[in-house]
Amino acid sequence: MGNLIHNFSEHADLSRKVFQSLLSTKEIGRPTMIYNEVSSTNTLGFEETQRQTPHGTVVLADSQTAGKGRQGRLWHSPAGKNLYFSIVLTRPAFQAHASWLPLVTGIALAETLELISGLSISLKWPNDIIIHDKKLAGILCEARQHRDGTWAAVVGIGINLNSDQDDFSEELQGIATSLKLESHTKYDRLTLLAAFLKNVESHYERLSSENIDAIRSEYMKRCITLQRSIEVQLHSGNRVEGVAVDIGHDGELLVMPSESHEDQTIISIRSGDVIHVRKPSQLINKATISD
Ligand code: BTN
Repeated sequence: MGNLIHNFSEHADLSRKVFQSLLSTKEIGRPTMIYNEVSSTNTLGFEETQRQTPHGTVVLADSQTAGKGRQGRLWHSPAGKNLYFSIVLTRPAFQAHASWLPLVTGIALAETLELISGLSISLKWPNDIIIHDKKLAGILCEARQHRDGTWAAVVGIGINLNSDQDDFSEELQGIATSLKLESHTKYDRLTLLAAFLKNVESHYERLSSENIDAIRSEYMKRCITLQRSIEVQLHSGNRVEGVAVDIGHDGELLVMPSESHEDQTIISIRSGDVIHVRKPSQLINKATISD
């Protein structure tokens, strides 16, 4: 075990020795590289893929100076309180199910946070971790095909664990929260990380064609976007309004456009920024719009 965890951080509660004693995974987190401050653990994760780092390597930092969020946003990453880490996945078999990686990671994270806090945690499509209508954690999954044909994905996870109210900007205070704020309890970062890595490893092991239907229904049970009126801002700049009716077999969001759209065929959304407009409506007839 001596070489499995590299510690470049002096932060007392991110101790290599302690993490070694907590980690019980086979591959995920072996090695784990622990840093004080980095630009972005996702950026470092991709750098590691150039050095033939083992599948499952984790890059963890106490703080980030340029933490990356989805849709080009910044992820606020102050030191000493929260978790910022990335999992490097290089096994070719994962490529076939790459579209499910962010969603499966979301299921595993919601389960772990629920177990540790006793609170009920939901997912907003694709993988915002939501508690009491506020965002608790986010996942940024990036994948690259290298020139030599090898493929790598970096799954970056940011969890607002012990943030206090004034750690969030005024703008964020209305939409973001932390596990500490919601449960009035302070959490040990490495204990949570070790529990999550163990859980996500078992979810990744299930990621095969035979299990996609089961994973899809687990995801759908937690996803609060379904049966809601939503607006989606697409990369193209277009905006779609409608009702989120289903999750497709690649994890995409299926949306029935509102009457204001000329074309009434269901739209499949693979990436975009979803806004929940209203609570679920009684008028939506599930039976006619889902498969
Ligand atoms: C989101 O916008 O919801 C995704 C946020 C993902 C943030 C994490 S923090 C660790 C990892 N490194 C990054 O630069 N981003 C992800």
